[in-house]
Formats: sequence, C-alpha cells, structure tokens
Amino acid sequence: MKLGRLNHVGVATPSIERSIAFYRDVMGAEVIREPFDLPAQGVKVCFVDTSNSQIELIEPLGEASPIHGFLAKNPAGGQHHLCYEVPDINEAKAWFEAKGAKVLGEPRIGAHGTPIFFVHPRDMGGVLTEIMESPEAPH
Ligand code: CO
Repeated sequence: MKLGRLNHVGVATPSIERSIAFYRDVMGAEVIREPFDLPAQGVKVCFVDTSNSQIELIEPLGEASPIHGFLAKNPAGGQHHLCYEVPDINEAKAWFEAKGAKVLGEPRIGAHGTPIFFVHPRDMGGVLTEIMESPEAPH
C-alpha cells in the first residue's frame, strides 16, 4: 500500500454551528465549507480548510449515530479520527486485513465522494483511522 497525504482530522462536536464560530473567530479560519448531512454515516459534516489540510467537524445525525457514544465520553467534543489518502481503496483494505487490523465494514462513499473505510483504533496505536481513496486517483 502507498500511504498518501493526511486528508483531514475528524473532530466530533455537539454543535457544528458553535464549532464554526470557534474556528472562524478563535482559530482565524477563512474558508469554512457549507455543512451537509451524511445519513449513511449518521453524521452532519462541515469542512474547515487549513493551508495544507482540513478539519472535518462531525455532529451526530439521528438516534443511531456512532458519534453519540463518543460525545457521551467527551461532552465538549474532541479529536475523533485521522484520515489518510491512498491511491486504491481495495488494495488498502487487503493490506490492513493482511496485517491483522480490523477493518470496520465494507468501503463506502465518504464525505469527499470517494470510497472510505475505518480501521479499529485497537490495531492502530489507539487512533481511529479513516482510509480514503484519493479524489485524484485514476479510475
Ligand atoms: Co473523516
């Protein structure tokens, strides 16, 4: 597998609206994208651009959202996952499985419109890790 760029840092928040105000007013972020719902993942998402990457704000969407459990433990929100790009999502899945790392579910379309999967933090040094096919990947 070829490890690509760090695409984004996922940050869970109880309120995207309040987090947008924080990144704009305290962090000085100038480019904050329009929030959107991602029902398949049970999250509302908002990307904040930095000069070299993005922060992905995620807020629970619906009762079954996987973010509820995280916010129960971290009521103010906090760092949730890191996302790395790879050129080929299926090759990456086979790679991690061959290393004995637990891939959580099948690849599915993520917030950037390309296939993603998550790898269990237990096998990733404690970091919930999202693997994402690069938007520039040739198909
Ligand atoms: Co993400």
